[in-house]
Amino acid sequence: MTQPENYPIAKSQDHAIGVVGAGQMGHGIAHVMLRAGHAVMLLDTSQALVDAGAKRIIKGLARDVEKERMTEEQRQQAVTRLKTTTALADLGAADFIIEAVTEKFDVKAYVFRSLEPHCPPETIFASNTSSISITRLAAATQRPGKFIGLHFFNPVPVMKLVEVVPGLQTAPETVEKAISLATSVGKTAVRVNDFPGFVSNRVLMPMINEAVFCLMEGVADAAGIDNVMKLGMNHPMGPLELADLIGLDVCMDILKVLYESLRDPKYRPCPLLEKMVAAGWLGCKAGRGFYEYPKK
Ligand code: 3HC
Repeated sequence: MTQPENYPIAKSQDHAIGVVGAGQMGHGIAHVMLRAGHAVMLLDTSQALVDAGAKRIIKGLARDVEKERMTEEQRQQAVTRLKTTTALADLGAADFIIEAVTEKFDVKAYVFRSLEPHCPPETIFASNTSSISITRLAAATQRPGKFIGLHFFNPVPVMKLVEVVPGLQTAPETVEKAISLATSVGKTAVRVNDFPGFVSNRVLMPMINEAVFCLMEGVADAAGIDNVMKLGMNHPMGPLELADLIGLDVCMDILKVLYESLRDPKYRPCPLLEKMVAAGWLGCKAGRGFYEYPKK
């Protein structure tokens, strides 16, 4: 069995992890936590949503066995460590709660405020936000010293990076624990200061946005733009394909945060991006974005 160095399988049940949001990022985060031996309580607003997330996790763990990243016994143990819920109180026993809900400040702040009464003061709250200020989110809670950004990348089981983003108020001990958690699941943690979009999306989103401007202005068609970046720059995916994978709504939300926070017109979302979001052409998840995706 091959066990790449960066997949530390089922060492111990070091932490009980609460994951809020069973969507693309949330289920991926839960998957890597289970794969590394942590116990996970996965929460979403309806049983149908948590069931859908759990189904994808179970499929992903089966794939890990197929690819010899874990044994069948480890998979069975991982599945038993997964619990799902729609009740916030069930996250009360978690050491770490990672939020991966919609990229809107008000929604995220509401989630953390609602969690607060159910969690002891030592529980660490982490947000998987792509761009929203950790300092501001931390200030919306009663535990700013125990609040941090843990920014995973899509697809979570594959991408090696986690940006670890302390807010102004985050305690050094919280930073250490967050780095240790990211490392325990085989990720490379890069500490990044709290500025809009951190490093990843501050650099990535202007590239994606510029690719949409190129498409809008007819510089080349979508496949042409993507091929230039894939074949000329050795990117694994073109910027438009990548935008479809991330979600055009997510890209637009991040660009808006950059534009409004940094007050620089270079971050204004391209009108074509806004129009596609308005049409509901949100990328892979909607079956249509810059490309079409047949329903599986
Ligand atoms: N979800 C889950 N797993 C996926 C996947 C997906 N959408 N796409 C591919 N994979 C898995 C495959 O199943 C395969 O796993 P396996 O080892 O079990 O077979 C593995 O990834 C490699 O896939 P493939 O061989 O089919 O394809 P590629 O070699 O072309 O790799 C890719 C696919 C990893 C997605 C690669 O194209 C890539 O790295 N693309 C860039 C992704 C990227 O930039 N992500 C960051 C987005 S930004 C972000 O998330 C931040 C946020 O804030 C916006």
